[in-house]
Amino acid sequence: MLPKAALVSALALLAVAVAAAPAPGIPSHYSGDAQKLADPTYGPIPGESDHYNYNWGLERPFPGNISDPVFPTEDGPPAANDHTWQNLLSAEWVIFEFYQQGIETFTDQDFIDAGMPNTTRRRLLEIRNNEAGHLRIFQNAISPTSVKPGPCRYVFPLTDPKTYLAFMTLIEVSSMAFLSGLVQEPTNSPMERGAMLAIAATETRHEVWALMDIWKTNPLGGPSDTSFPYARQVLYTTNSMIVPGSCPPENPEYPHPRQLLPYLSAASDTKSLAPGSTVRLNFTDPNNQPSFDDKTQYYAVFCHGLRNVSVPIETSAWPEEDIWITIPERFETKGVIVALIADRVGAPTKESVVAGPSMVMQQPLGLAAAMLGGGDAKP
Ligand SMILES: *[C@@H]1O[C@H](CO)[C@@H](O)[C@H](O)[C@H]1NC(C)=O
Ligand SMILES: *[C@@H]1O[C@H](CO)[C@@H](O)[C@H](O)[C@H]1NC(C)=O
Ligand SMILES: *[C@@H]1O[C@H](CO)[C@@H](O)[C@H](O)[C@H]1NC(C)=O
Ligand SMILES: *[C@@H]1O[C@H](CO)[C@@H](O)[C@H](O)[C@H]1NC(C)=O
Repeated sequence: MLPKAALVSALALLAVAVAAAPAPGIPSHYSGDAQKLADPTYGPIPGESDHYNYNWGLERPFPGNISDPVFPTEDGPPAANDHTWQNLLSAEWVIFEFYQQGIETFTDQDFIDAGMPNTTRRRLLEIRNNEAGHLRIFQNAISPTSVKPGPCRYVFPLTDPKTYLAFMTLIEVSSMAFLSGLVQEPTNSPMERGAMLAIAATETRHEVWALMDIWKTNPLGGPSDTSFPYARQVLYTTNSMIVPGSCPPENPEYPHPRQLLPYLSAASDTKSLAPGSTVRLNFTDPNNQPSFDDKTQYYAVFCHGLRNVSVPIETSAWPEEDIWITIPERFETKGVIVALIADRVGAPTKESVVAGPSMVMQQPLGLAAAMLGGGDAKP
């Protein structure tokens, strides 16, 4: 028989062992079915299955049809890039749902009546399927020690096919720009950088299709698309499409880490966002307005292609008087201009950004939703 002291310490050891065991820890309000997704070989494999190409059903394609978060299956610290892939997966849920809800809302005939080709909805289905493949790719990129976030509820501009498709082109160019920033994260492996570049190229194909077939315009975007370093600032603006409080509570904060910058948009009466236009600004979230200090000179910084231009702005009379910016005349009317407000010329650090960014779309010009800064799809 063991002496009493030995028994007590054996029990203590057992308690420690139980606490440290890799507990799956799935909250009881989930069925646990989503845990099958932890196995990367479960379900159709992107690149091998036409599930992510030619899938013409209305129902959500795998893994978009499984909406619970996937909980860690191993114990331990997160992998170096788990936050990055979690950010990407949360953003991808926004994009996937945007396409899913579009093909649910509009019929083939709705697009034809709006003057679009009769293949429009079928192409949108194919893009949706590609986006489902992105969901799976990003789920698989998150290591087994971190949660794979599930979808939230979203609000999209689904009033008519034209507004919807204008928003689509904005989402696609925004994806291209934020991926150019994500690639720059120092923790990326060469393989991860390659994967992000390949995804950005996919979004570019979607965008080129829209420019050619939907907008019947020149699809080329100048010698370089816009590279913007602060990817998470772009992702943060997509929070304006998320119904507050609708995300699974176990999802990580999105994006992580984040800066809570005031949303920046053009005022709703804006006529043109072409180079040379003067635009009145709207900080569209009434609960998150910028604060400008009298002793600081602020700048509107415009990033386009691989360069940026800074223009001093007058902030001392704000909020009594609006802030106006002029989009630099020197830019070509191609691709996208990323606009933000900074307290330093060139916004050389993410901390120097005080509001924005906002996506100023140049192709095609004159669309309803040409500037995404959190103001266009508020719930
Ligand atoms: C999700 O879709 C896949 C592929 O179509 C199907 O095999 C699976 O049963 C679906 N799962 C659920 C929960 O609907
Ligand atoms: C779609 O449009 C093309 C040409 O614009 C036409 O040739 C084709 O017959 C149409 N298809 C259907 C199913 O209406
Ligand atoms: C500013 O944005 C808010 C929120 O989207 C909107 O209600 C308001 O009308 C906008 N004001 C202007 C002048 O654009
Ligand atoms: C703007 O350009 C300057 C000079 O090349 C660079 O140092 C800065 O990081 C750029 N800013 C952004 C936001 O890309």
